[in-house]
Amino acid sequence: MIRFALLGAGRIGQMHAANIAGHERCNLSWIYDVHTPSSEALCTKTGAKVARDPGEIFDDAQVDAVFVASSTPTHADFIVRSVESGKAVLCEKPIDLDIAKVEECSKKISGAKTLIQIGFNRRFDPGHGQVVEAVRNGEIGDLEQVIISSRDPEPPPKAYYLAAGGMLRDMTIHDFDLARFALGEEVTQVSAFTSNLFDKVAQEIGEIDSAMILMKTASGKLCHINNSRHATYGYDQRLEAHGSLGMLRSENRQPTNVERFNANGSHWRDACEFFFIERYRQAYLQQLEVFMDTLEQGKASSVSFEDGRRALILANAAYRSVETGQAVTVNYENPLEEL
Ligand SMILES: NC(=O)c1ccc[n+]([C@@H]2O[C@H](COP(=O)([O-])OP(=O)(O)OC[C@H]3O[C@@H](n4cnc5c(N)ncnc54)[C@H](O)[C@@H]3O)[C@@H](O)[C@H]2O)c1
Repeated sequence: MIRFALLGAGRIGQMHAANIAGHERCNLSWIYDVHTPSSEALCTKTGAKVARDPGEIFDDAQVDAVFVASSTPTHADFIVRSVESGKAVLCEKPIDLDIAKVEECSKKISGAKTLIQIGFNRRFDPGHGQVVEAVRNGEIGDLEQVIISSRDPEPPPKAYYLAAGGMLRDMTIHDFDLARFALGEEVTQVSAFTSNLFDKVAQEIGEIDSAMILMKTASGKLCHINNSRHATYGYDQRLEAHGSLGMLRSENRQPTNVERFNANGSHWRDACEFFFIERYRQAYLQQLEVFMDTLEQGKASSVSFEDGRRALILANAAYRSVETGQAVTVNYENPLEEL
């Protein structure tokens, strides 16, 4: 039985708490949130203890693993404290918005054997995962192109935009990771265009609501990511891989698979699952399952700190491309030189 503590009892923390508390392989012993009413409410639901300070969790020898689901600026420090106290850590994306902070964190944890898994849940979506597995098994021959579509159902409120730190580092970061995962090799060049096409709130604060990114690997494989902060038909999440022997596609999910036909049209279904909690329900559970397997079997992390670091480096390269109007060569070794 793996004993978890949860940091952060917000939107995603509440879902992770339910997944941990409801799983037969683990239990949830502590919850800490700076906003105590949030942790108290979640502890009442899950039976966990309220931590008044994160130190209570890091000092508790009974805790095996820490799930970091608190606000982004807290992640790097909580990763370091988990590693220092010898607790495995499953940390939500992104590690941080600032690559300098990620590099500092990387130095502090360098050489540690503690398991760190970053919450890039899309890798664990059954559809997306199967596309990548089929690519690796050679089902479409030589992989040539990867296309990732990721559109939110509706724009977030102003407060979210202001805290999120920019679409490419907050939202597209999932797609940069999925691109690396699907391509199976490193991206070497990034070219990006961003736009504000429809959201007045984003426009008011100088934020974007749409993006298209093209990337190339050293061997010449190509990847296209497209993002929007809205889609009238729900949360649009698709992955396509094209190769010498065919094409693979992981499609959107609808609440039911009922197909409708009438005088105005044929063959349409429910709108897509509304947002990430519904669309990636299985992926979040599978991510937890894999984390526990990895911990129990002492294996290497399937989504490492370095994966989190590299996704942020790609986001920074995309911002640089937007600023300069040029394709950017990605510098994984010394990303601070690019700032
Ligand atoms: N993987 C995904 O699909 C996914 C989806 C949504 C959010 N996220 C990530 O999860 C994190 C949380 O997002 P959210 O939407 O739940 O945000 P949220 O604002 O709803 O919740 C964040 C919680 O963290 C708490 N918090 C802030 N500082 C803290 C600290 N020092 N210690 C403990 N708790 C603290 C806040 O009080 C709040 O309850 C973000 O990093 C976000 O990028 C990932």
